[in-house]
Amino acid sequence: MKKIITFIGAGNMTRSLVAGLIQDSTDMQIRVSDPDVEQLATIYQYSSNIEGFTDNVLAIEGVDIVVLAVKPQIFQRVCESISNSVQEQKLLIISIAAGVTLASMREWLGDEISTVRCMPNTPALVQAGATGLFASPAVSDEQRSLAEMVMRSVGITIWLEDEAKLDAVTAVSGSGPAYFFLFMEAMQTAAKELGLDEQQARLLVLQTALGSAKLALESDDDVAILRQKVTSKGGTTAAALAVLTEKQLPEMVAQAMSAAKERARELAQG
Ligand SMILES: NC(=O)c1ccc[n+]([C@@H]2O[C@H](COP(=O)([O-])OP(=O)(O)OC[C@H]3O[C@@H](n4cnc5c(N)ncnc54)[C@H](OP(=O)(O)O)[C@@H]3O)[C@@H](O)[C@H]2O)c1
Repeated sequence: MKKIITFIGAGNMTRSLVAGLIQDSTDMQIRVSDPDVEQLATIYQYSSNIEGFTDNVLAIEGVDIVVLAVKPQIFQRVCESISNSVQEQKLLIISIAAGVTLASMREWLGDEISTVRCMPNTPALVQAGATGLFASPAVSDEQRSLAEMVMRSVGITIWLEDEAKLDAVTAVSGSGPAYFFLFMEAMQTAAKELGLDEQQARLLVLQTALGSAKLALESDDDVAILRQKVTSKGGTTAAALAVLTEKQLPEMVAQAMSAAKERARELAQG
């Protein structure tokens, strides 16, 4: 039978996930709930079969999956308002809210709920995301597959065997886009100092970032080997890498990611 999925919150992430599910031609009936009818209208562009609701309790009546896609600040309020219905229907809950733990969700939704906690990242908005997933013990194999299918519609997914590892995922792929943006920003500034104009600098830097990631994903070599292959002794790349190594770029990256993981842990603990 056709599964029914409700997204609560008609914002950026819901738009991407709905677009991804429709692109994947998944056989699901999609509902979206948001108190703002104008927000809801932004979702209807993807399919005329999407059902819109302004009441979360009505929106989850008779469904199989609920995706909680509201900001962490209002998450508790939304959970408490739907908890009776979630418990009665034994629904699968998928949460994409950053830093909201399973313990908190159990407190607000009930002990026995089937929950998959996800940590997606912003490239999900262009269907190139990376998501870490963790399932509560009550989640069945079928529900795991369903959760994976939903999140795979906006990129790659990896399952974690331990909820605490979501803090590491936050430090790697959650915050990761910003590290690459900073590096690209610095490269663009340097490119202009070397004489290129704004547009030339932007295009060369962004295409190089995209091409390098594509090459690494499609290659059998790992990134250290790929780096060695483009670095000939005494050449231009070697001159640049010598500066980055001398300035301790790898140590800086390790420290930065460790700080992100620690902050994720603190935020999850409230
Ligand atoms: N965007 C990302 O790349 C990203 C990455 C990782 C994780 N996340 C997580 O994904 C979640 C959603 O993020 P987002 O960027 O999609 O947020 P968003 O664009 O702000 O979308 C949230 C939507 O929920 C609506 N809303 C507010 N109260 C509601 C209620 N009581 N019931 C139903 N809907 C309600 C909001 O309406 P108003 O605007 O009127 O308040 C808004 O339309 C967040 O928890 C965030 O931490 C996002």
